[in-house]
Amino acid sequence: MKYGFFDDNNKEYVITTPKTPLPWINYLGCTDFFSLISNTCGGYTFYKDAKLLRMTRYRYNDTTLDTNGKYFYIKDGDTIWNPGWQPTKTPLDSYECRHGIGYSKFTGVKNDVEAALVTFVPIGDPVELTKVTLTNKGTAKKDIQLFSYVEWCLWNADDDMKNYQRNLSIGEVEVVDSTIYHKTEYRERRNHYAVYSVNAKIDGFETSRDEFRGAYNGPDKPDAVIEGKLHNTIASGWYPIASHQLNVSLAPGESKTFVFALGYVENAEDDKWEKPGIINKKKANELLAKYQTEADFDEAFEKLNAYWNDLLSKFHIESKDEHVNRMVNIWNQYQCMVTFNMSRSASYYETGIGRGMGFRDSCQDLLGFVHLIPDRARERIIDIASTQFQDGSAYHQYQPLTKKGNSDIGSGFNDDPLWLIAGTSAYIRETGDTSILKEMVPYDNDMSVATTLMEHLKRSFDYIVNHKGPHDLPLIGRADWNDCLNLNCFSEHPGESFQCFGPSEGPVAESVFIAGMFVKYGREYADLCKLMGDNAEADRALAEVDKMIKAIEKDGWDGEWFVRAYDAYSHKVGSKECDEGQIYIEPQGMCVMAGVGVDDGNAVKALDSVKEKLDTKYGVMILQPAYTRYHLELGEISSYPPGYKENAGIFCHNNPWISIAETCIGRGDRAFEVYKKTCPSYIEDISEIHRTEPYVYSQMVAGADAKFHGEAKNSWLTGTAAWTFTNISQYILGIYPTLEGLSVNPCTPAEFGDFNVTRVYRGVTYNIEIKNPNKVQKGVASLLVDGKEVEGNIIPFDGSKKTVSVVATMK
Ligand code: GLC
Ligand code: GLC
Repeated sequence: MKYGFFDDNNKEYVITTPKTPLPWINYLGCTDFFSLISNTCGGYTFYKDAKLLRMTRYRYNDTTLDTNGKYFYIKDGDTIWNPGWQPTKTPLDSYECRHGIGYSKFTGVKNDVEAALVTFVPIGDPVELTKVTLTNKGTAKKDIQLFSYVEWCLWNADDDMKNYQRNLSIGEVEVVDSTIYHKTEYRERRNHYAVYSVNAKIDGFETSRDEFRGAYNGPDKPDAVIEGKLHNTIASGWYPIASHQLNVSLAPGESKTFVFALGYVENAEDDKWEKPGIINKKKANELLAKYQTEADFDEAFEKLNAYWNDLLSKFHIESKDEHVNRMVNIWNQYQCMVTFNMSRSASYYETGIGRGMGFRDSCQDLLGFVHLIPDRARERIIDIASTQFQDGSAYHQYQPLTKKGNSDIGSGFNDDPLWLIAGTSAYIRETGDTSILKEMVPYDNDMSVATTLMEHLKRSFDYIVNHKGPHDLPLIGRADWNDCLNLNCFSEHPGESFQCFGPSEGPVAESVFIAGMFVKYGREYADLCKLMGDNAEADRALAEVDKMIKAIEKDGWDGEWFVRAYDAYSHKVGSKECDEGQIYIEPQGMCVMAGVGVDDGNAVKALDSVKEKLDTKYGVMILQPAYTRYHLELGEISSYPPGYKENAGIFCHNNPWISIAETCIGRGDRAFEVYKKTCPSYIEDISEIHRTEPYVYSQMVAGADAKFHGEAKNSWLTGTAAWTFTNISQYILGIYPTLEGLSVNPCTPAEFGDFNVTRVYRGVTYNIEIKNPNKVQKGVASLLVDGKEVEGNIIPFDGSKKTVSVVATMK
């Protein structure tokens, strides 16, 4: 069942009922200022950091889903309704929400009044704009009232929910004309305030939530709206809000438009006050002055659309498969940009008050957005590397505002260092910019011990070389990619952190997954060494890689698939010898991606085992059989009920690894089958089962052991976005950036047909035509570059050209 449809021409998903199975959200904002907005106008806004600079409140764990947002109420006689349906939930005569790229539109109609909202954050300004157009569709005159509503958060979203003894006394606002200023804590250490304004003379305002709603009413029954009159109260403490009242008369057929602006303003320390107690509003007025008319709004909206159209045009496919076209050209790239901006901080599942930026997550996200915004990818790499320790290990997380390592969860996740090589290699393959390797980068943000980025990569590599266990496989530390495989922790008491309990690194527990990563990214490291002319270091690295391959072949192979790990007693994890958790997805994907087993047939065996043991119609599960009880020696993984999360859920992030691995052995049919299973557009029809947004990936889909098999959770902020884009663009469609130039080597289903890709690469636009006359799954027979035959798969890079046409014919 569907709850809407894709409108590809407008790059929108159109939701046709407010009663989606879960709130279906979108993101507004490209830099610094962001909002989450659901299909019923729920959500919240923040500046830079969702925890420390939260502008509007959201309610977690509330009794109803999705409470609080940026709402507009319309009072038309005795009927009170919202164009986005929430919070009054008054049945609408018609409803539509269009989530677009960086904007959302809502149209509600009730009793002949149409209210159309368009909302977005303009490029370059810290403000969210909403245009509200009210139209009288009937034959009689309408006298209605429009009320806006936001509830301020007292900036630190964490403290805001807990510290009532203080917070209920500190709320402060000012109101001048049509602008409401939220200035809580501005009197002391803050140099910022928020504004909510409308470009028309108002008929009243409210800044006290109790006055607006009444102490015992929810936002669905606000007293003042029912009365049809705001009381112009200046809040003092308690719960400050912002609401404007506009009385609107509409002749039949007439429309009126208002532009609302919700903004963030910072003042210099010595320029905070206009006079004692009165905030300096100069910058706020300048900001608001830019968006006073509908024409200002429309122009900024055009700019936003141009920005996104340009970004998304960097990779464009035309094939006969509409799902692939839509996901590649629009939604998958868009989700990659959102994960770049948000990391894992703010979604409807990530509260914005929890984790910082993950070291490994941010490195992997890079794989998905580096072709879109290479400059910012460069900055991101330097930020991440700056939190590395001198021995090559890394803080597991860092804070986006300070960019410093965050000791909450410490370090000792032994896959982390290698992801830095992965991200840097992707950046250089994309851009050719080797200057980054010579950049001086601190350790733990201490510039006095800075070295080149290249040296950081060496230390990443050597961290693994120097931390091996009894089978010469990498020690796992607190966990590897699978945060929940905690082989050294032995946590026995509720409330303890599964990862941080116990020693950070045991001398025994090893990870075959990290071994696979070491082979893959160790080779990429060696390639970078060669590129920089250090052949001796490249040879040393490759010799280490060979040793690792031998260790995997000797002790990482279980007969039909790769072993997952060795625990602290040196017992196998993910082996037929185990009673539960006999086979895991991660080492099958990673080892084959690294090329291990490709020549001796083990790769085929491993992937066949995946298909036989882990596959479901909704995707490939992380492990089988699920753990049915808590295993002290394995940690958090066995804490989840069977079928959920890391305990045999379908963890979407590593499904593309299996798909990529299939392309490494040339099985395009199977690679694509795996791609399709979790691909949002392909499963739009089962939205009532899948439940999260049908236009983006979720972190997890419940596995076969779960009660709600097929149900997704944790949409939007997941490494799945980057990895599926890498999979489809670089491996299935086969346009892969190498250090020398773009390579063309598709691995598609036999029936996929011919297709064309436009790819902007290092400033050159490549128009690539791929022909598959014999319906093969892999292999390019000839490559014509601007009409000339080229040997091999790589288009030699020539920066003097603006466009290059390529014709690749498969065998
Ligand atoms: C979450 C984490 C990621 C981890 C994965 C598997 O998605 O953000 O870092 O690799 O879970 O545990
Ligand atoms: C990862 C896992 C999650 C776990 C978290 C911290 O994000 O997906 O299940 O709770 O790591 O351990």
